[in-house]
Amino acid sequence: MTHLFVPGPVDVATEVLEAQNQRMLPHRSKEFEAIYKRCWEKARQLFNSQWRVFITTCSGTGLQEAAVRNLAQQDVLACVNGAFGKRWANVARSNGKQTEVLEFEWDQPVSPEMVRAVLRRKHFEMITIVHNETSTGLQNPINEIAAVVQEASPDTLICIDAVSSCGGVKIDMDGWGLDMVLTSSQKCLALPPGLGLAAVSDRALAYAETVPNRGWYFDLLLLEKHLNKDSTPATPALSLIYALDVQLDRILGEGLEARFARHSNMAQRVQEWALDKGFELYAAEGYRSRTVTTVKNNHNVNVADLNAFLMLRDMRIANGYGPLKGKTFRIAHMGETTLQDLEMLLEAFDEYLTSR
Ligand SMILES: Cc1ncc(COP(=O)(O)O)c(C=O)c1O
Repeated sequence: MTHLFVPGPVDVATEVLEAQNQRMLPHRSKEFEAIYKRCWEKARQLFNSQWRVFITTCSGTGLQEAAVRNLAQQDVLACVNGAFGKRWANVARSNGKQTEVLEFEWDQPVSPEMVRAVLRRKHFEMITIVHNETSTGLQNPINEIAAVVQEASPDTLICIDAVSSCGGVKIDMDGWGLDMVLTSSQKCLALPPGLGLAAVSDRALAYAETVPNRGWYFDLLLLEKHLNKDSTPATPALSLIYALDVQLDRILGEGLEARFARHSNMAQRVQEWALDKGFELYAAEGYRSRTVTTVKNNHNVNVADLNAFLMLRDMRIANGYGPLKGKTFRIAHMGETTLQDLEMLLEAFDEYLTSR
C-alpha cells in the first residue's frame, strides 16, 4: 500500500483514514472523554512512560513552542546538528528566551562531552535535543546525553523532539529520565498531519508553575487540568482523534518491538543498497537513523527527474533538506512501509540508474 517514501506526511492505512468519517460528538461529552482517555493512556506505551500524554491540535512545531514557553523563564540550551534542532532554537529565541546554541556538524551526533562542558560553565533551565534529525537521517544518542545532563546539572529539564522517531524507534522516557518528549502524527505514527503528542514529567509540570507568560493554547498546566477530566481546553480535532484511537490499536497490535525491528530492518536494507550502488551515506556511522536514510548524491542523480520516473510507478522519495538539497536525497522507511514496499522502490531506483 505504501508509496510515499518521504519523511512525512506518510501513507495512512485505509482503515485509519475511514475512522475519521465518524459522526461528530460534543467534546464535552462522556462519549468523547472515553475515546480521549483510551488514546492518551495507550499513547503512553509509545514513550515508555508513566507520565501523562497531552494530545494537542497542532503539528510538531507547536509542541516545540509549548516546551520553551512552559519550561524556561529564560535560559535554554539548544543542541543543533540539523534543521529541526535549529528550528527549535529559533522557536525559543522568538519566544523571548535567552537561547544558547550548541552547534555540531550536521553529519555528526550531539556530543555528550560537549554538553557536559557547557552545563559545567552555566546553568540552563532546559536543554532541547532532536532525537532523530529528519533533515540529515541522524539519530542522536539521547540516553547518553541525558545521563550527562543528570550528572552535570540535575535540575535542567531534558526536552526531546521525537517527531520522526516516536512509534518507529524505542524511546525509554522514564528509563532515560526525560522531562518532555514530543512528536507529531504524520511520521512514524502514520496518521494524517494535525496532532501533536507530548509526554511530560511531574517535575516539568511543577517547574511550569514558576514560569510566567506560558500563553494559553499551549499552557501545560491548563492542559493538565483538562486532561484530569479526559478532556482538552479547546475543541480538539475530533476526526483525527478517532483515527488515532484506531491507529494506536493497530500499532500496539503489531507489537512495539516488532514495529521497531521492521523500521530497523528497512534502514539496514536501504543503507546496504546505497553502499552497494556506490553511494555514500550522509550521517556518521553508528548514528544512522532507522526511519529515514540520507544518501549523499555522489552519482549526481537529478532528484526531480528521478521522482518523475518514480511517480509513474506511484512512488516518490525526498530531496535533501535545505542546504543539502541536490547534494543528498532521503529515503524514508517509516509508518506503514514494509520491506516489500522498499524492495519495489529499490528495484525502480535500479532501473532508473541503468536507464540514465
Ligand atoms: C525532527 C522534526 N522536528 C520537528 C518537525 C516539525 O514538525 P511539524 O512539521 O509537524 O511541525 C519536523 C518535521 O518534519 C521534524 O522532522
